[in-house]
Amino acid sequence: MAALDSNPRLRLHDVMSDDKPSLHAAYALKTPADNKRLYAEWAGDYDRGFAAREDYQLHIHTARAFVGAGGQGPVLDVGAGTGLCGAVLADLGVGPIDATDISAEMLDKAMRKDIYRDAIEADLNEGIPVPRDSYSGIVSSGTFTHGHLGPEVLPALLRVARPGAQFALSINAKHFEALGFATAFDNLQAESRIEHLTLAPVRIYGDLAAGPNKDDTALIALFEKT
Ligand SMILES: C[S@@+](CC[C@H](N)C(=O)[O-])C[C@H]1O[C@@H](n2cnc3c(N)ncnc32)[C@H](O)[C@@H]1O
Repeated sequence: MAALDSNPRLRLHDVMSDDKPSLHAAYALKTPADNKRLYAEWAGDYDRGFAAREDYQLHIHTARAFVGAGGQGPVLDVGAGTGLCGAVLADLGVGPIDATDISAEMLDKAMRKDIYRDAIEADLNEGIPVPRDSYSGIVSSGTFTHGHLGPEVLPALLRVARPGAQFALSINAKHFEALGFATAFDNLQAESRIEHLTLAPVRIYGDLAAGPNKDDTALIALFEKT
């Protein structure tokens, strides 16, 4: 402790540690530019340093739910990151799969896994630069969460989905409540834009997780574009 007190650089590092890529830092992001910055730094270490260490399971639940509901390609993986969800989909025989994400560095990691047909670098808040009705399936794992995307981007996803397209979107359960996803889904159903909505709770992390978020849950929103 005496060594720390006498070393201002170490003290500063301790204070600044929340700025390093971590779940805590990711949940505190405020803007798309914040997301770009954090994930540029996190891309290299995301799979081994975060997903493996925290026993991350959400991409597996999401991909299995999509396939269990009869989902088929072509699929768009929204907020694909390093491609964890796409890898499970590909193992389950689904394809072709495109990846979209705001982070070029995360997409670079995803494309090196030879899972995806195309990478589409885009801020989902600005829409997706592909023609309407492009996809038979839309998946998203871990991207509808604190500091990331809210229900306002759902219309952009519906635009690129064909009529009858299957959706499987994971939504952090607390984020679902805080940002009014229930109302957004109620409105989309009332407007006959989506149908057959189910919301199944799952654990985001497995039994090996140890951090403060180890018991966090998400809802897997399964629905079809009308
Ligand atoms: C927690 S990671 C999830 C990655 C992957 N789907 C998984 O399950 O491991 C969230 C991803 O959302 C992306 N993201 C954040 N804000 C975004 C935005 N506005 N538009 C597109 N992607 C965004 C980040 O770059 C990051 O790759």
